[in-house]
Order: sequence, then structure tokens, then C-alpha cells
Amino acid sequence: MKIDFFNNEFDISQEVLILDKSDGHVSNFGKQWEEYVDVQVDSKNNFDISKEYLEDLLFGNLDILKGKNVLEVGSGAGRFTEHICKYADRCVSVDLSSAIFHNVAASEKNVTRIKADFLKLDPKEKFDVVICRGVLQHTPDPKKSILKLHDFISPDVGRVYFDIYPMPKVGKLHPKYCFWRPLFKTFISYESCNDFLKRHIKSLLKIKRTIKKMMFGSDFLSDSFIPVWDYKGKIDLDNDQLEIWAILDTLDGLYAQFDYPMSNKSVTSLINQNGIDLQQTDKTRNFFKTSVSA
Ligand SMILES: C[S@@+](CC[C@H](N)C(=O)[O-])C[C@H]1O[C@@H](n2cnc3c(N)ncnc32)[C@H](O)[C@@H]1O
Repeated sequence: MKIDFFNNEFDISQEVLILDKSDGHVSNFGKQWEEYVDVQVDSKNNFDISKEYLEDLLFGNLDILKGKNVLEVGSGAGRFTEHICKYADRCVSVDLSSAIFHNVAASEKNVTRIKADFLKLDPKEKFDVVICRGVLQHTPDPKKSILKLHDFISPDVGRVYFDIYPMPKVGKLHPKYCFWRPLFKTFISYESCNDFLKRHIKSLLKIKRTIKKMMFGSDFLSDSFIPVWDYKGKIDLDNDQLEIWAILDTLDGLYAQFDYPMSNKSVTSLINQNGIDLQQTDKTRNFFKTSVSA
């Protein structure tokens, strides 16, 4: 079948439009979002963390979604989909992984789910807003992916909101990239690591926090010794939540097939060189709001 926004022909399964049957390079995300589907979802946890995050990504204004057609690229478990669809007229959520089957906003009438590599989508009708958070560094060529996002919006009026992991100060010499990711991906399966984390996360966090204290509060040094994510002091979570968020984001950080961060400067120069208008950027969080002219 076809839908208004794309020239592609889709199959349909479990109410999801399918372009790519295989999870391809994002099979880790399919597993991750199936098991940890509720962890970051506001409506399941009685917090507003994801709503506030989305608001920040939209530079403080969720109301810009009102009455709009929104394309969400790389929706994962749907922590943002459940908010986007409350404001937007229509939300088309795309994810290449089987996470799309578990999206928490699946039953909302104005949500259309598509299982596809967004790079293969051939746009027909344009969207008012494109949102892409936490995705671009996990694509094989983030520069190509950033440019592709702009094919989906209407010239002048459409807006793209996206982020990409910032390049660490020491670049790819950061232990996550030059040591931990290659080590885990080569020698330890996703499943074994997941089991190990579930059994030992309390002790790992304890050791990491002790090292951090000894290293004068340095995240860089404590990350170098223990590659486990820790949101203590950064996000308002209780101990159980800190542990489950740590497991989720450790798996995310170590097992994604691609992880190509980009500095704010490189993204800005890519945008400038390709005739895209940079409306706003948050240099600390590497958020961007862009548009294209007719
Ligand atoms: C780190 S998760 C972020 C999910 C969600 N945006 C969030 O912030 O919770 C990245 C997601 O992007 C999806 N993804 C990566 N490359 C993609 C591609 N080329 N096309 C569609 N989805 C992709 C993955 O399957 C995964 O669910």
C-alpha cells in the first residue's frame, strides 16, 4: 500500500507499514527497546523527563507542533511519540528496528508507524516538522543523514529539529571509542553483557561513583575505568530508575553498530555548505533547528 507522504510501496504487518523487513544495522535497538520499552516513557513512570527533553529539543516551545504534520525519525520505544501526537495533527513515526512494533503510542489514532531506513523513504507530500533525536550518530554516514532530513520538509515554512552526539574533547581517542566499544563488540555478546549488567549494576555504579570522587568528580576519568552510564546528579531519578537507565544506556552506547559523533562546528559547516538555514543551535547539547529556502 501507499500513503500520502511517500512514493514508496509498503507492506503491512501488525498495523505497521513495512519497507525494511530486516532490522539491518540496528538489531541491538530492536532487542533493547523490546525489553526496556517503558524505562524512559513518562506515562509509565509518573515523570516528565521525556516531555521536558522534547521541549528543550524544540527550543522551548511544544506548541509549534499544534496542528502540524510531524515526521519523527528513529522513534525507538516512543518516549517522544506519546507527546508529539498530543499536539500534532498527525505523527508519522519511522524506525528501522523492530522497536516500531513496541512504540508506546501505537494505539493513538493520529500516529502512523513505519518500519524503514529513513534514507530509503522517497518523499511526496512534505511535512511541517521533522524531529530526529538520538539517531544520527547511529547511521553509517551522519552527514548524508543530516542532509536527507531536509528532503522531507516544505521549503520556507518547514522546520527540522535534530541532535547528534557531540564529539568528545579528545575525539575518537575517548576510551568509549578506542577501547570499550571495540572490546565489547568483539568479545562479549549483547545478551551476555545485558545479563552481567542486570546482575552487577549496583556494584558497578558504586565502584564508578567511588572512582569519580577520587578523580575530583571527573566524568571522563570515571568513564575511562567503568564504561557504565550514570545519571546520578544529572537527571532526577530514584535508585531503581538510575540502575535501569544505566543498563539501557550502557547497552545503547556499547552495542550500536555505528557511533559517529560530530562537533557543533562540523554540523554547522555542513549545513552552511549545503544551503540549509540554521535557525537556532544549542552548542552544549548539540541541538539544531533548521529550514530550507524555496
Ligand atoms: C538511541 S535510539 C533513540 C530513540 C528515540 N529517538 C529516543 O530518543 O528514545 C536510536 C533509534 O534510531 C533508530 N535508527 C537508527 N538508524 C536508523 C535509520 N537509518 N532509519 C530509521 N531508524 C533508525 C534505531 O533503530 C533506534 O531505535
